[in-house]
This record gives sequence, structure tokens and C-alpha cells, in this order.
Amino acid sequence: MSRITVIGGTGYAGSAIALEAAARGHRVTALSRSLPEAPIPNVAHVQGDATDEATLSAAIGGADVVVGALAPRGPLADTFRDVYRTIARLADAAGVPLYVVGGYSSLRPAPGADRFVTDLSHIPAELHDEIRAGAALIIEDLPATPATLDWVFVSPALRFGARMPGERLGRYRLGDDVAVQPEDGGAISAADYALGFVDLVEKGDHHRAQVNLGH
Ligand SMILES: NC(=O)c1ccc[n+]([C@@H]2O[C@H](COP(=O)([O-])OP(=O)(O)OC[C@H]3O[C@@H](n4cnc5c(N)ncnc54)[C@H](OP(=O)(O)O)[C@@H]3O)[C@@H](O)[C@H]2O)c1
Repeated sequence: MSRITVIGGTGYAGSAIALEAAARGHRVTALSRSLPEAPIPNVAHVQGDATDEATLSAAIGGADVVVGALAPRGPLADTFRDVYRTIARLADAAGVPLYVVGGYSSLRPAPGADRFVTDLSHIPAELHDEIRAGAALIIEDLPATPATLDWVFVSPALRFGARMPGERLGRYRLGDDVAVQPEDGGAISAADYALGFVDLVEKGDHHRAQVNLGH
């Protein structure tokens, strides 16, 4: 049993990870600005703003594992990378690993090829900032952290998210920084992403690395 703090633990990805981890007997704390109408079973919900360092420090302080499930949208659009820099610094100081929910666009179509994010011409322009902010975590910010910080950046398949929830198949494929379904981007449901995500946390066999989960 581990104490797992999920920052953004009521969101699309974060709530699925919190649910999966709690179902396996981990002691899960979910941090978000608002409390959910329907609390996740066996999860301790904590209300707080991740832009506040004292809030983050308290949330990370009692954890064995930190999960970042924030999204670079809305009020966090401009502060997302700074918030993750603080999370990384606090996790490093606490000596606990950081697992980050990432995006598809930071993956590559083939080994050594450019990441998808280098050409966003086929993606609506209003999504570019969000995609670039998410990708910057794995391209610049996480590799720049001290070597003492253990992090894993977990990208989903292309079709993932609240608008395409998918179904629980009870399986997933795990890849590195090359998309496991590069032919069409693939898909993964929140439940199966969470399955793979919590398996990664429990095994602890990836270090300072990007991985991806697809069906
Ligand atoms: N195919 C893809 O590549 C793909 C698709 C979807 C998502 N993603 C990525 O997955 C990650 C998570 O996205 P998501 O869709 O799961 O996000 P989401 O559903 O919007 O959830 C965000 C979570 O963060 C919390 N939150 C927001 N601002 C906060 C703050 N200042 N302090 C504390 N908590 C805060 C939210 O709760 P409150 O609002 O109550 O605070 C919520 O729990 C993102 O990086 C996103 O880019 C990738």
C-alpha cells in the first residue's frame, strides 16, 4: 500500500487514476479546487489550489507517490509549467517519484522521428497553446529537473478524454516515446489508461522516462 496524492484528482484522467489506485488498496488523496458532487469511493478529497505552494507542499508532504493530472487549460493555461516546476521541486525535496499525465502530441511516430507536436498544422489553432504547454513538460521541464527526481511522463493514445470516454477493456499496450498506435493515433479509455498508469506506479520500473498507453 502506498500513499498516493493525485493533483487534479477529480478530472478526467485524475479521477480514473484515483479510483483505480484506491480500488487496489492504496491510500489516495485527490487535490482539486472544487470538491466533486460524488466523491470517489475510498479517496480523501482535499480542496485547494495548486498555484499555492503551501497547498502543494501539504499535499505532497505525506505522500509516497505524487501524480500530476492537471490540464494546461483555463486559469492554469499560463501557469501550468510553473506549477509543475513547483510540484517537481517539492517531490524532489520529499524524495518521492512524480508521475505526470501527459499528452499524445509529445510522442513520436517512429524511433528518432520528430515528435508530433513539431507539426500542428492539421490541429485547430485554438488548441496549439495547450498542446505545446503539455509537451514542454517532457521536452524541456522534466529533463531539466535534478537527477535526484524520479519522474515518469505517461502519454495516452490520441483518442482519450472526456469527449471520447471509451470502455474498460481491462487491457492496454505500453510503449516508450514512440506511439504504440502511430497509424491513426489509437485510443484508450480512462479506465484502461488508469490500469496501465497504476501498474507503472506499482512496478516502479521506469525512471525519468516517457511512456505511452494505448489499446
Ligand atoms: N489525447 C491526449 O493527448 C489528451 C486528451 C485529454 C487530456 N490529455 C492531457 O491529460 C492531462 C489531464 O487532462 P484532463 O482532461 O484529465 O483534465 P481535466 O478533466 O480538466 O481535470 C483537471 C483536474 O485538475 C484540477 N485543477 C484544475 N486547476 C487546478 C488548480 N489550480 N489547483 C488544483 N486543481 C486544479 C481540476 O479540478 P478543479 O477544476 O475543481 O480544480 C481537475 O481535477 C492534461 O495534461 C491533458 O493535456 C491528453
